[in-house]
Amino acid sequence: MKTNRFRLIFIIFSTFFVWNCQKQTIDYEKIAIEVTKEAKSNLQEKLMKAMKEGGTEAAIPFCQENAMAFTKRLGVAKSVTLQRITDRPRNQMNLFSTEEAKIFSEIQKQKSNDGVFPNRVVSSDELVTVYVPIVVMGQCVQCHGKPENITKETKTTLQRFYPNDQAIGYEVGDLRGLFSVRFPK
Ligand code: HEC
Repeated sequence: MKTNRFRLIFIIFSTFFVWNCQKQTIDYEKIAIEVTKEAKSNLQEKLMKAMKEGGTEAAIPFCQENAMAFTKRLGVAKSVTLQRITDRPRNQMNLFSTEEAKIFSEIQKQKSNDGVFPNRVVSSDELVTVYVPIVVMGQCVQCHGKPENITKETKTTLQRFYPNDQAIGYEVGDLRGLFSVRFPK
C-alpha cells in the first residue's frame, strides 16, 4: 500500500517535471521562420516600391543603402542577430564564414524533389543559430539572373555600385543564400 502511494507520488512528480521542461523548450526554428518571413516580405516590399518609383537603376543604390541596415535592425527588434549570407556575394559583407560554408553546401545538396531546401539548426553552449534558405524567384533574375535576363541599364548600374559583383547567373529555384538567425541561449 505504502509503496503504491510512493509510486503514485513519483509518477505525478515526474509527469509534472517533464511537462514543465517541455513547456520551457523554445522552438527556435519556428521563431526563425517567422522572423525571416517578415524580413523577406519587408525587403521585397521595399524593393518593389523602389523599382516602381525609379526602376532597377534606383532600386540598386536603394538596396545598397538599406538592405543590410534593415536586416540588422529587424534582428535587433526581435532580439536575434539576423544576417543574409551567401557563397556568391554582391555585397562582400554578406560572404559566409568557413563554418557557414559547410552548412551552406550541405543544405544545397539536400534539395528535395519538389525543389525545397531544408532549414538547419545549429546549437552550441551559448547560442542557437537557425539557417533558413533564400531561394531565387522570378522577380529576382532581373538583378541576379543570367546575362540575358538583365537589361543593359541594370548591368551598368550593378557595375557602378558593385564592381566585384558575384551575385549573377542564377536561375529560378537556385539557392541564393541563407538567413542566419542567431539566438543567445
Ligand atoms: C533591383 C535589383 C534587385 C532585385 C530585383 C533583387 N535583388 Fe537581391 N540584391 C540586390 C542588391 C543591390 C544587393 C546588395 C545589397 C547590399 O549592398 O547590401 C542584393 C543582395 C542580395 C542578397 C544578399 C547577399 C549578397 O549577395 O550580398 C540576397 C540573399 C539577395 N539579394 C536575394 C535576392 C532575392 C531572393 C531576390 C528576389 C526575391 C532579389 N535578391 C532581388 C539587388 C536586387
